Parts: sequence; structure tokens; C-alpha cells
Amino acid sequence: MTAEFTPDQILAGKRLFERPWTFRMGVPSLDFLPAAGPVEIAFAGRSNVGKSSLINALVRQNGLARTSNTPGRTQELNFFVCEGVDLQIVDMPGYGFAKAPKEKVDTWTELVFAYLQGRATLARVYLLIDARHGIKPVDEKILTMLDTAAVSYQIVLTKLDKIKEAARPHMIAATQAAIAKRPAAFPQLIGTSSEKGMGIDELRAAIAILLAERTG
Ligand code: GTP
Ligand code: MG
Repeated sequence: MTAEFTPDQILAGKRLFERPWTFRMGVPSLDFLPAAGPVEIAFAGRSNVGKSSLINALVRQNGLARTSNTPGRTQELNFFVCEGVDLQIVDMPGYGFAKAPKEKVDTWTELVFAYLQGRATLARVYLLIDARHGIKPVDEKILTMLDTAAVSYQIVLTKLDKIKEAARPHMIAATQAAIAKRPAAFPQLIGTSSEKGMGIDELRAAIAILLAERTG
């Protein structure tokens, strides 16, 4: 079972993403982090898992976050904002991309870990997992770090359109079982396809609920 929402929650999610989002800044290292302000949510996951595509689907703006077929597209922490909304969305570099130069991979991985562990205004991490591959050892590392740092996170399966419909419930159940004992994980995940628009309303609703909790 994936997370379920009431019609009111779905509507609140739609409202939250009614207005245009803009790129605020790209942050190549923690020295350049903007001062803590609005509630932040971050999209993390392996290279090419579909982080930037999912953000574009959320805000209905193709091209807001840059996407690519080639892993390693996003190389900084990219902050997106929307006027009148007390929320900041952070698109992160991917981890686990073995083919990039080691130096670069190390820099991105350090940046991702340091930001995720140390950001007071970070309300939740959406940890993306490719529905074709499931949770890999490199994902386990980041999950363990989030559990240890007590940073709340929710698993989002991506690219559901790439697996057969009949295989989806199994993948969802297996992934949920894999995180069942993880203390900082949301028990239920959200299954999505940015390509087909699946699960996007649900993700918007989840974010709206979180924001309401944080801002009262
Ligand atoms: P990095 O920034 O390199 O870490 O990648 P990313 O996680 O931001 O992935 P990105 O959004 O750039 O997408 C990677 C590739 O996957 C692109 O070719 C996308 O078009 C494709 N993609 C993303 N989401 C989906 C999806 O839901 N379905 C399908 N079929 N393809 C997708
Ligand atoms: Mg990206």
C-alpha cells in the first residue's frame, strides 16, 4: 500500500503548486548556503533516478530543474522558491555515479551528506528510488545516515512507468518492507512517474501536509 490522501489533502497539494516557481540559487559548497529561512524539502537519490524531473512535474514547469539522460547533470544544491509560499525546494546532485571522475563524485557526495546532516530548516528528505532497481547498497548508506541524524525522510519510487503494471505492487511492497524498521523513514512510500504524471498529486498532498505541520 502506498500513502493515501483525502480529497481535501489532494486539493491543498494542488493549491500549493498553483503559482510559478523560480530558481533562487545554486550552491557548490556549504560555504555558500543561504541563511536558514523557509521550510526546506530536499530531493535526494542516485544519479539519474529522476530528481530534477520529479521537481519539474511537481511544479508543472518542464525545464525549471535541468534534467539529462547523462547521470551527473545536477552538480550543485539548487534552491527553488515560489512567492508567497514558505517553502524552499532543493534539487541535489546524485550519488553513486561511478563513471564520473572520482574527485567530482567525492565532492558531490560530501556536499549531499553534509547538507542533509546539518541543515536545521530541512523538514523532510524525499529519497528517490528507481522502481526498476529498488534500494541499492549506496542508498542504504544514505538511509542509515538519515536515521542516525534523525532526519525525517520518505521514499519515493520513480519511473514506475518503466516497469510492468503487474510488477508494481510487488516492488512497492518489497521497498516498504525494506524500510519498515528504519526509525526516520515514513512507513508508506509514494509511487511516481514524472513521465506519466503518476503519483504527483499525492506527492504534492504530502508536501502540503508537511508544510501545514511546520508552519501551523
Ligand atoms: P542527476 O541530476 O544526474 O543526479 O539526475 P536526476 O536524478 O536529476 O535525473 P533526471 O531528472 O535528470 O532524469 C534522468 C533521466 O531519467 C532523464 O532522461 C529523464 O527523462 C528520465 N526520467 C525521469 N523521470 C522519469 C520517469 O518517471 N519515467 C521515465 N520513463 N523516465 C524518466
Ligand atoms: Mg538532477
